[in-house]
Amino acid sequence: MDRLAKKNEWFARAEKVIPGGMYGHQSVKYLTEDFPLYFAKAKGTYLWDVDGSQYIDYVCGYGTNLFGYGNEQIERAAALQLQNIDTATGPSAVMVELAEALTRQVSHADWAMFCKNGSDATSMAMVISRAYRGKRKVLVARGTYHGASPWNVPYTTGITKEDRAHVVYFEYNDIESLDAAVKSVDGDVAAIYATPLRHEVLFDQFFPSVEYAHACRRLADEQEALLVVDEVRTGLRLSRDCSWSDWGVHPDLSCWGKAIGGGYAIAAVLGSDKAREAATNIFVTGSYWLSAVPMAAAIETLRLVRETDYLEHTKRLADKLRAGIAEQAERHGFELKQTGPSVMPQMLFAGDDELVSRGRAWASEVVKSGAYLHPWHNMFFTASHTDEDIARTLEATEAAFGALKQKSVALNRLDILDTVQR
Ligand SMILES: Cc1ncc(COP(=O)(O)O)c(C=O)c1O
Repeated sequence: MDRLAKKNEWFARAEKVIPGGMYGHQSVKYLTEDFPLYFAKAKGTYLWDVDGSQYIDYVCGYGTNLFGYGNEQIERAAALQLQNIDTATGPSAVMVELAEALTRQVSHADWAMFCKNGSDATSMAMVISRAYRGKRKVLVARGTYHGASPWNVPYTTGITKEDRAHVVYFEYNDIESLDAAVKSVDGDVAAIYATPLRHEVLFDQFFPSVEYAHACRRLADEQEALLVVDEVRTGLRLSRDCSWSDWGVHPDLSCWGKAIGGGYAIAAVLGSDKAREAATNIFVTGSYWLSAVPMAAAIETLRLVRETDYLEHTKRLADKLRAGIAEQAERHGFELKQTGPSVMPQMLFAGDDELVSRGRAWASEVVKSGAYLHPWHNMFFTASHTDEDIARTLEATEAAFGALKQKSVALNRLDILDTVQR
């Protein structure tokens, strides 16, 4: 049976028992048939699909690790913890140790609370913000992803207006728009949410101005509201601290997930003393939120963050890939926009259609040569990427540019565009 037939067989099985066969942004129905469907193994920078094909991965679990899949030191810490206690009747000592490690690492943080996913963290931050002064309105930049909870998910199917009743929208990086949003609900602002940079799917990424970050801080203070910085995607990828702290803008709450557990399921809300009482007074929990194994993995991840040059290493390799692809694109006559930090690159072809047809066709060729690049979601580098990976990836992208010139780009509709609120 050829590869495509095998893939289809897996998908047919999946569709019988899983609605749609798979779901969320991880669903390959948004990609092309050249992308693998189900994976069998992940190690370091590499992924293997169920048919045994290997890929150099630049999506990296959508950012769930900084040190590659199955990093030995992190795995050892997790395995040691598992010998003693994981999910039990109450929290374990590692919860205290992890909270201590995070509050040492992140300058604004005086305390930590744990959960499983980024969406849990951003929703918990909302409850804390409302508990802080009993106000209701949460200000969110239009189109910004803070998770798949009904108050923010970018789809509207199954979601009611009431789910977002107290969410007020403004334009990202637009101080006037933020100011107007604040004025429209003056006196009832619980929180201003911010992502450190604009990193939405299908759009070029960009950092806001430093003035905008300071305006978020000032307006939150004027309203006695909390400034919440959502580091779920960016956390520890751009800085060893909160990303805006490098600009002197310290949030009251920050949300973390993805990379902090080194591949294990854990997320966190970190807060300053100002928000401690509010955080103490709310009720939040989940059966697996206090599991010890992911906490031990997170403690080891933080040690690697402190003691290795992972940030510098990933930036060097990411810059190298960016430069190589830029040179190839230019030589082949394509305008490929590579935006955002090189360690979290977004790659979109200038003038591509709404369906990202050119980008999908290019990524499709790349994946056939064994490198997994995403055509419309930002990607992620890890410390396990090597110079050899970059060289092999550049061979794949070179071949893909060549193939793209030959190919007429006709692809199926990109379903995401039907329902996403843009
Ligand atoms: C900025 C941001 N916030 C929150 C989330 C939600 O995280 P999770 O998918 O772990 O619930 C994401 C996920 O991509 C994110 O990028």
